Amino acid sequence: MEKILILGGSGLVGRALINELKDKYEVYATYYSTLTSLPVEKQFKLEVNQLDKLKEILNSTQPDIVISCLRGDFERQLKFHKELALNLVQTRSRVYYLSTTNVFDGDFSKPHLETDPPIAESDYGKYKIECENVLKEILGKRTMIIRIPAIWGKNSQRWNMIIESIKEQKMIEVYSNLVCNNLLDIQLARQLVFIIENGLKGVFHLGSVDMLTQSQFFEQILSKLGGSFNLRYNPFQDHGQTYYFALETNRNDIPDFLHITNNEIISYLLG
Ligand SMILES: NC(=O)c1ccc[n+]([C@@H]2O[C@H](COP(=O)([O-])OP(=O)(O)OC[C@H]3O[C@@H](n4cnc5c(N)ncnc54)[C@H](OP(=O)(O)O)[C@@H]3O)[C@@H](O)[C@H]2O)c1
Repeated sequence: MEKILILGGSGLVGRALINELKDKYEVYATYYSTLTSLPVEKQFKLEVNQLDKLKEILNSTQPDIVISCLRGDFERQLKFHKELALNLVQTRSRVYYLSTTNVFDGDFSKPHLETDPPIAESDYGKYKIECENVLKEILGKRTMIIRIPAIWGKNSQRWNMIIESIKEQKMIEVYSNLVCNNLLDIQLARQLVFIIENGLKGVFHLGSVDMLTQSQFFEQILSKLGGSFNLRYNPFQDHGQTYYFALETNRNDIPDFLHITNNEIISYLLG
């Protein structure tokens, strides 16, 4: 059985990955403040500045696969991922790095494909690009870059915030001209398992196959919930234009049964 180490196993993405992987692989995970659902001997408390501890964990678990779904200080994370790659360079381990639509937040003129060169404006986007590059430079084709849009889950902060706002009849601020795609935590985990099991390589743009403006996405949620709701429509940057914060794919190796639409995401969340 192959061994997988999930860095950040206690987070939204990490938790969904553990659920999807735990019966097929020997799964280990790190956490920072909250324990994961794994047995205690299979999880490790780790802060991104603890590079020696990272080394110890890699030595003791000898993972075939490392999935990074960490958050934390950008500079520390960059050092951490460089150390991770240097420690794996003499092994055959593969790394799956969770990245983001923000690597394209320097160009909102169109949705972006895997083949587009990343261009970021935000510190977050710039850090993610640097981290992608460090891993690729050191580990080459053993690095897989998994770029994802906003992730929703029944137990995600985003979803809880909407439910809370509705309960308390609070105003929800939305962009009326920002086209996005979205994804579910559980669907991301299924897609990633497919990528791992089939040895797919390179960069992946995962996300709903269709795109909606942020306001349309929220309108659909609220109309399905029924009752009255308060959306405040804001323009993203200029009024007259459409902006895209979205990932598009030109890969055809993720099968249709793993694709998802915004409507299916919303139905699942409301189900
Ligand atoms: N969620 C999204 O919508 C989204 C969208 C695009 C990209 N991404 C990327 O996907 C990855 C996973 O996101 P997520 O939403 O699952 O994040 P999350 O829920 O915030 O989880 C982050 C994980 O990192 C750990 N962590 C936080 N600070 C840390 C630190 N200083 N040192 C070590 N570990 C630390 C957390 O541990 P504790 O929980 O135990 O504190 C948790 O396990 C991230 O790399 C993120 O950039 C996420």
